[in-house]
Amino acid sequence: MNDLQTFCNILRSRRSLRDFADKRVSEEILLCLRQAALSAPVAGGRQDVSCLFINDKSVIATWAAKARLAWQEKLDNSSAFIKEEMGAYIRNFIWFSHAPVLAVMTVKQAPLFWTGLMQEKAALIFGGETSAAMAAQNLLLAAHMAGLAACPLSGPLIIADDIKRDLNLTRRTIVLLIALGWPQERLR
Ligand SMILES: Cc1cc2nc3c(=O)[nH]c(=O)nc-3n(C[C@H](O)[C@H](O)[C@H](O)COP(=O)(O)O)c2cc1C
Repeated sequence: MNDLQTFCNILRSRRSLRDFADKRVSEEILLCLRQAALSAPVAGGRQDVSCLFINDKSVIATWAAKARLAWQEKLDNSSAFIKEEMGAYIRNFIWFSHAPVLAVMTVKQAPLFWTGLMQEKAALIFGGETSAAMAAQNLLLAAHMAGLAACPLSGPLIIADDIKRDLNLTRRTIVLLIALGWPQERLR
């Protein structure tokens, strides 16, 4: 029971943190995070999920700038109602230019025959995207245990095609990005 309570307390203490110190995350820690991610259950035992770490500052800043432009363009071409609803919200999708590391969670796309067989239920039954989401949660919890700050990001997926092109990803879906790094020390 004590172990269970400790574990539940760890789960409850995880938060999405968006401020990072300018400090490198070691390869050793990233390897552990990838192992944690890839130890999550995977639909069909297919090992279709991948976790790529991007730590090139200029690549991350470029993606953040592209996401900003893409969201701005989307809003510019939207109704007054959507502008009002989303105008302030999009900053949540584009803040990550300072993240030291971006984890890119991807999964192989379902074969075309699967989509033909199951139509709109194909993605859920194939389970690829759900598997990648479970891997992402493992990664977030491992990052939390390592003392890292981390935040899942789906908003920047507006530029998923650009990211796929930059990373040479074909027949894969980017399910989620995760910004991570050492937490910014709070000023007392
Ligand atoms: C699938 C998913 C996508 C998310 N996308 C974003 C995002 O684009 N930008 C962001 O700042 N936070 C994003 N978040 C983080 C949520 O805002 C955050 O988890 C939520 O506010 C609850 O806070 P907590 O994680 O600290 O418990 C995302 C979370 C999930 C699960």
